[in-house]
Amino acid sequence: MFITLEGPEGSGKTTQARLLTNRLRGEGYHVVLTHEPGGTPIGDQVRTVLHDPANTDMTPQAELLLYSASRAQLVAQLIRPALAVGHIVVCDRFYDSTLAYQGYGRGLDLETLWQVTRLATGGLVPDLTLCLDIRPDQGLQRRLLGGGEWNRLDQEALEFHRRVRAGYLELAGLEPERWVVINADQAVEQVEQQVWEVVRSRMGIR
Ligand code: TMP
Repeated sequence: MFITLEGPEGSGKTTQARLLTNRLRGEGYHVVLTHEPGGTPIGDQVRTVLHDPANTDMTPQAELLLYSASRAQLVAQLIRPALAVGHIVVCDRFYDSTLAYQGYGRGLDLETLWQVTRLATGGLVPDLTLCLDIRPDQGLQRRLLGGGEWNRLDQEALEFHRRVRAGYLELAGLEPERWVVINADQAVEQVEQQVWEVVRSRMGIR
């Protein structure tokens, strides 16, 4: 079972990925929790380049290929081996982030993004994708208050983040059997409970 979490900045993906992982482990499952970009030594180096606020002259194409390079490494080194031995993999962002940010956000051609994505993933598709949906102004505000990393993409204009959010909702509508959209503008515990309901029923956990 391969579960991914997606959504705009500040939607609480990282927190919810951790809570879901703990809950599944509490049920006795072996869970590998990872994230993008990064999750491997090579991916972490790529992440540093991608998120350095000083890299203002990075082209959208270079950005796409760097995210994809990190993904190729993560799929080959961690995700596929874990799935092969029957572990659950929970991933904080996956290729839908590329479609949303580099496609809907930056305006790169979606068909080209799919081709690059297939190369990076070898065709691996999540079984379930949870979209934690929040208005970009609220999400960015949360991120500012949270005091965590403020990266190169966080500093994009609000309009960019609005396109990203609309992109996520469109992607979710195109594949409703894979996606579940959850309102992330709620207390952490409420979101956690809704995430758990979805995962529990998908996995047949009583
Ligand atoms: P995060 O680790 O705080 O979620 O930051 C990841 C940032 O990278 C976030 O701004 C979204 C962006 N991103 C892309 O633009 N494309 C991608 O494919 C991925 C995985 C992330």
